[in-house]
Amino acid sequence: MANGIFVTGTDTGIGKTIVSCAVIHELVQQGYKVAAMKPIASGAQYIKEQLQNDDALSLMQYVNTEHDYNHVNPYCFEPAIAPHIAANRVGVDIRIPVIRESYQVLNDQADCVVVEGVGGWLVPINEQQSVADIAIELELSVIMVVGLRLGCINHALLTMDSIMAKNIKIMGWIANQVDPNLTATDQIIKTLQNKLNSPYLGFLPYFSNGHFDPNQTFNLNLLF
Ligand SMILES: Nc1ncnc2c1ncn2[C@@H]1O[C@H](COP(=O)(O)OP(=O)(O)OP(=O)(O)O)[C@@H](O)[C@H]1O
Ligand SMILES: [Mg+2]
Repeated sequence: MANGIFVTGTDTGIGKTIVSCAVIHELVQQGYKVAAMKPIASGAQYIKEQLQNDDALSLMQYVNTEHDYNHVNPYCFEPAIAPHIAANRVGVDIRIPVIRESYQVLNDQADCVVVEGVGGWLVPINEQQSVADIAIELELSVIMVVGLRLGCINHALLTMDSIMAKNIKIMGWIANQVDPNLTATDQIIKTLQNKLNSPYLGFLPYFSNGHFDPNQTFNLNLLF
């Protein structure tokens, strides 16, 4: 088992951060030392004269290790736009070796590093590479988050096809109730269980405050 997990999803805004927080919480409960990483973030504000991103700060709330913000989130851009465009605007070339250096610092002090992707699986990060290359080069095990909403079956099948084509280790997929009004949730999950050829790791309910809440019941089956 690789000691890092890469959390990707069917799109942007479908619950990668909420699910990553739940995964971190679950692994901490299981007794592991867990670190978190958001290697690339676009959409940030200055806190104590440093650009910081909400996703990175959310993940950091649930880990049981302590690290510098710069290692958790080595690439942080202010505008909430596609990462390679945000990087280009400030003359930065996103490089995976830089991400690897921070990852190694985190990994040295943890049993597991949970890494949240940016956007979807094939979002470009520079001229040549996409988000997928981060997972491939760091040899992470992938969890795919399916944000349960209309259109998610197609997005889930396409994303899983692409993950499988990369010959990378896949832990499985998690269904996330991003839309509280969606009907036929159970049938959608059943359909995906039949069609996605990888383990179903569980279901995350809708959290009424819009954030992960460890006191609300949820069921993840994570064998790390
Ligand atoms: N299970 C859930 N319960 C309640 N709200 C949710 C749930 N999942 C997602 N959301 C809401 O949907 C929005 C997007 O969720 P989240 O930030 O986790 O997505 P993401 O995939 O990490 O997005 P990004 O691509 O920006 O990183 C947030 O406003 C969040 O509050
Ligand atoms: Mg996020």
